[in-house]
Amino acid sequence: MVLTVRQEGPDDAAAIAAAVRRAYADVPYSDHREHLMIARLRDSAAWIPALSLLAEEDGRVVGHILLTRAAIRGARGSAPTLALAPLSVVPERQGRGVGGRLVRAAHRRARDLGYGSVVLVGILDYYRRFGYRPMADHAIVVPFTVPARNCMVLALTPDGLSGVEGMVQYAPEWMDG
Ligand SMILES: CC(C)(COP(=O)(O)OP(=O)(O)OC[C@H]1O[C@@H](n2cnc3c(N)ncnc32)[C@H](O)[C@@H]1OP(=O)(O)O)[C@@H](O)C(=O)NCCC(=O)NCCS
Repeated sequence: MVLTVRQEGPDDAAAIAAAVRRAYADVPYSDHREHLMIARLRDSAAWIPALSLLAEEDGRVVGHILLTRAAIRGARGSAPTLALAPLSVVPERQGRGVGGRLVRAAHRRARDLGYGSVVLVGILDYYRRFGYRPMADHAIVVPFTVPARNCMVLALTPDGLSGVEGMVQYAPEWMDG
């Protein structure tokens, strides 16, 4: 089957929500509200249409990734960044590279748009293969309590994190719910 990755279109919201719900249905640490976060962000200033990507096989949504606007604010000022969440692959297509395709496609597009970094809270063992490192290595923190090893950041360009440190500021729609 051919896997294509493309930007979300105007008629894709329901299929994306269904795929996201299925991806997280059996994940123990999930609050099963990831699809609601996507819906909130879609109506927010944090939304970047080019960075909501879906993976499709035979016209069926099998995965989705979302990067939305955030910032890293420290003593030396505020730098734009992107928050990656959620990343979803439907259970029967997991472990076949769909997640990797989505992550790499999102990084390429984010770089093309001029972004220097991506932040996320997730599984270090999964994301380190894409170059993510602990936020602590860059003196970056998140505004909520979560184990440090789950807080990661990626420089999209060689100087993408130069002089960047401080606290991640998420869109209100990312935090609420
Ligand atoms: C996590 C997820 C997005 C990965 O997508 P995927 O298409 O299954 O993953 P890929 O095929 O690209 O990569 C497979 C690799 O990731 C690893 N992997 C997958 N899920 C993992 C997890 N939860 N923890 C650690 N490693 C994981 C696999 O062991 C495999 O490793 P290998 O290449 O060394 O064999 C997908 O499994 C998913 O949607 N899970 C449920 C939702 C979820 O937990 N999302 C949050 C991520 S923070």
